[in-house]
Amino acid sequence: MKRIIPAFALTLFCAGSAAAGTSIIVLPAQNGNVTFAHTLHQEMRQEIRDMSCTTCHETEKGGKIAALGKEWAHKTCIPCHEKKDGPTRCEGCHQE
Ligand code: HEC
Ligand code: HEC
Ligand code: HEC
Repeated sequence: MKRIIPAFALTLFCAGSAAAGTSIIVLPAQNGNVTFAHTLHQEMRQEIRDMSCTTCHETEKGGKIAALGKEWAHKTCIPCHEKKDGPTRCEGCHQE
C-alpha cells in the first residue's frame, strides 16, 4: 500500500474575534481536506468530561501530533462523534 505522508503544514487563521471556535486547523487529505475547529473542540472539554488535551495530544501542552494521519485520525476522532453526534460520514469531515 502506498504510504502517504501528509504535509504537516498547518493553516491557522482567525475568523474575526477571539470568540468561541475561531482557531481552525486544516488537515490536508487527498480525498478532501478536513477543516478542524480546534478551539471548538478545546472548549468541548467543559461539556464532554472524558475529553482532555491528551485525548488527541501526547501531553497537556499539545503541539504537533507525530502519529497524525488516516489511521490515527479515524481512531481518535470517529468514536467520540458516534457517541456525541459529531460528523461520522466521510463528507462530514472531508471536503473537496
Ligand atoms: C479533538 C482533538 C484535539 C484536542 C482535544 C486538542 N487538540 Fe490541539 N491539535 C489537534 C490537532 C489535530 C492539531 C494539529 C496537529 C499537527 O498538525 O500535528 C493540534 C494542534 C495543536 C497545537 C499546535 C498548533 C498551534 O496551535 O500552534 C497546540 C499548541 C495544541 N494543539 C494545543 C492543545 C491544547 C493545549 C489542548 C487542550 C486544551 C488541545 N490542543 C486539545 C487536536 C486536538
Ligand atoms: C471525524 C472526521 C473524519 C471522518 C468522519 C472521516 N475522516 Fe478520513 N481522515 C480524517 C482526518 C483528520 C485525516 C488525517 C488528515 C491528515 O493527516 O492530514 C483523515 C485521513 C483520511 C485519508 C488519508 C488521506 C491522505 O491524503 O493521506 C483517507 C483516504 C480517508 N481519511 C478516507 C475517509 C473515508 C473514506 C471516510 C468515510 C468512510 C472518512 N475518511 C471519514 C478525518 C475523518
Ligand atoms: C471527545 C469527543 C470528540 C473528539 C475526540 C473529536 N470530536 Fe469532532 N466533534 C465532536 C462533537 C460533539 C461535535 C459536534 C459539535 C457541534 O455540532 O457543535 C464535533 C464536530 C466536529 C466537526 C464539525 C464541526 C463544524 O465545524 O461544524 C468536525 C469537522 C470535527 N468534529 C472533526 C474532528 C476531528 C478531525 C477530530 C480528531 C482530530 C475530532 N473531531 C475529534 C466531538 C469530538
